[in-house]
Amino acid sequence: MERLQKVIAKSGVTSRRKAENYILEGRVKVNGKIVTELGTKVSSSDRVEVDQVELEKEEPVYYMLHKPRGVISAVKDDKDRKVVTDLLSDEIEERLFPVGRLDYDTSGLILLTNDGEFTQRLIHPKYQMDKVYVAKINGIIEKEELTKLKKGIVDQGERLKCVKARILNSNVKKGKESKEGKSIVELTLHQGKNRQVRRMFEALGYRVEKLRRERFGNLSLGNLPTGEYRKLTPHEVKQLIALSNQNVK
Ligand code: URA
Repeated sequence: MERLQKVIAKSGVTSRRKAENYILEGRVKVNGKIVTELGTKVSSSDRVEVDQVELEKEEPVYYMLHKPRGVISAVKDDKDRKVVTDLLSDEIEERLFPVGRLDYDTSGLILLTNDGEFTQRLIHPKYQMDKVYVAKINGIIEKEELTKLKKGIVDQGERLKCVKARILNSNVKKGKESKEGKSIVELTLHQGKNRQVRRMFEALGYRVEKLRRERFGNLSLGNLPTGEYRKLTPHEVKQLIALSNQNVK
């Protein structure tokens, strides 16, 4: 027996939290009867419907995609721009959705799954998953400035911080003021606030010219080409879950 909201999330309809709202709103039926009790448990023999549609019991699947710039991290876009699921072959029958978001102009590693429970676990800050970004910024950044990012800056009332920061490369344009060069900086975040890396650098007076996510938890892009994807191995999925369990406070 499993909790109703968990079963709904696992089927890929929505996240567990939203499933709870659906239940409270009377949008969920079990064996033909509306259920509004969040603690309700169901078994695989129970027929669950959301908005009159019976849940399909899809096997959970997990992919990593190397998202190119210029693609939306969603399953559809109201302006009809390309979305991450447009990059998947028609042979994938499961209804996949992205785990968290990368900006339209950010490239890099994004996970796709039909497992809502898994998604919630990976994006919630309490699980402290490492998300490693490499940013190219305009200007030569100093080590001391990175310390500010680790302590945290406040932007639009939100405290934004990283857990690690290091300069990978910086080059001063010959004969120019030192601030006219570029720096490549790696930041490791546990939070996942909107445009977080860009806002953190903007707070220090830098503009992010390019941004790529290199790593998510135990997973790295490796040599997966831009625009391509691969299935995670069962071991990688278990490792991700183990990592989140180990990190939770
Ligand atoms: N931080 C950003 O600014 N953008 C992203 O896409 C991800 C993290």
